[in-house]
Amino acid sequence: MVMAEPYRIKMVEPLTMTTREQREEEIRKAGYNTFLLPSWACYIDLLTDSGTSAMSDRQWSGMMVGDESYAGSRNYFNLERVVHRITTYRHVIPTHQGRVAENLLFTTTVKPGDRVPNNIHFDTTRANVEHNLGVAVDCVIDEAYDVTAEHPFKGNMDVGKLDRVLAEAGRERLPLVMLTVTNNSGGGQPVSLANARETSRWCRRHRIPLFFDACRFAENAYFCKLRDPECAALSIEEIARAFLTSASTIAQRIVRAKTKIREARIPYQVPSLADLPDRLDNVLRVIYLVFNEGYSASSGASLTRPDLSGEAIRLGRLLGTLLPEPEVNGLLALMLLQESRRAARASPTDTACSQITARPGCSA
Ligand SMILES: Cc1ncc(COP(=O)(O)O)c(C=O)c1O
Repeated sequence: MVMAEPYRIKMVEPLTMTTREQREEEIRKAGYNTFLLPSWACYIDLLTDSGTSAMSDRQWSGMMVGDESYAGSRNYFNLERVVHRITTYRHVIPTHQGRVAENLLFTTTVKPGDRVPNNIHFDTTRANVEHNLGVAVDCVIDEAYDVTAEHPFKGNMDVGKLDRVLAEAGRERLPLVMLTVTNNSGGGQPVSLANARETSRWCRRHRIPLFFDACRFAENAYFCKLRDPECAALSIEEIARAFLTSASTIAQRIVRAKTKIREARIPYQVPSLADLPDRLDNVLRVIYLVFNEGYSASSGASLTRPDLSGEAIRLGRLLGTLLPEPEVNGLLALMLLQESRRAARASPTDTACSQITARPGCSA
């Protein structure tokens, strides 16, 4: 089914309609280098999306109210605030295009002969690595190259391939690892949160900095929301933050929160019945987070943590008896449905659903 587009196009730009012969002639003249093609000869131009295509009314109006001051412009502070909110990184260095950021990064990190692994390098990323005489290595999972393979996260990094690059080149030859989300040169395929964590753990184990080429981090988060039960209950921004916030930042926040509670002497209070409905969302969210860690463990050798998913289901059932709201039953049904597939997810031969769904009222 084709959905009607949820927007109105306010401005049109005429395009040149070319014939196949003209296009073949132009690409021949350009020496088969798309960068040398005149733009009039490209009916659909996918060379970059860096502000070269349609802008929304919000973007246009943003330009009108924009502050063009040469220094200290408030637009810069807006950008810095948003980047800081999503990534928690302290330093923000704006560049006018991604390839300039790559140039800054690789001229300062890559020495001749160094290897730079990525899931798949975008063409400008590869060019910047190679310009600095480094070797750009693609380490995406094999499914990425199989157009017939069904895989929800074909942009995932193959950590086994990272092991091989490390073994072959040695630690000193790996100045950094990069993860491109979404994996643009592999067809814009997404990277899962679990894979980003696994890649990050690998990098920490070998003390190699991990960089995100985050051109489409919001779209990537959207795919995670659609395809990964761990992310289904989170907002796009929360998923993006889960990708980009470091574990040490989260640990620091917890320490700060505990200190604040201690110093402000905030007492433990049992909420009154009237307070419960307002708190329900947060409670459900935490239960689902616990379940998700059990559904897709972020560390350890095992794919799942049945102890955690079992605990989340226990809490869900308890909540269902205390507060039998539709949201509670909905979450419980979702967890039970996913839990019923746990054995089948871990073993290709086991297709049985566990008996857990057969409980009265929970046959989801
Ligand atoms: C994954 C990725 N990296 C780098 C770039 C380069 O960004 P820019 O076109 O802003 O130089 C792009 C552009 O589309 C991209 O998709």
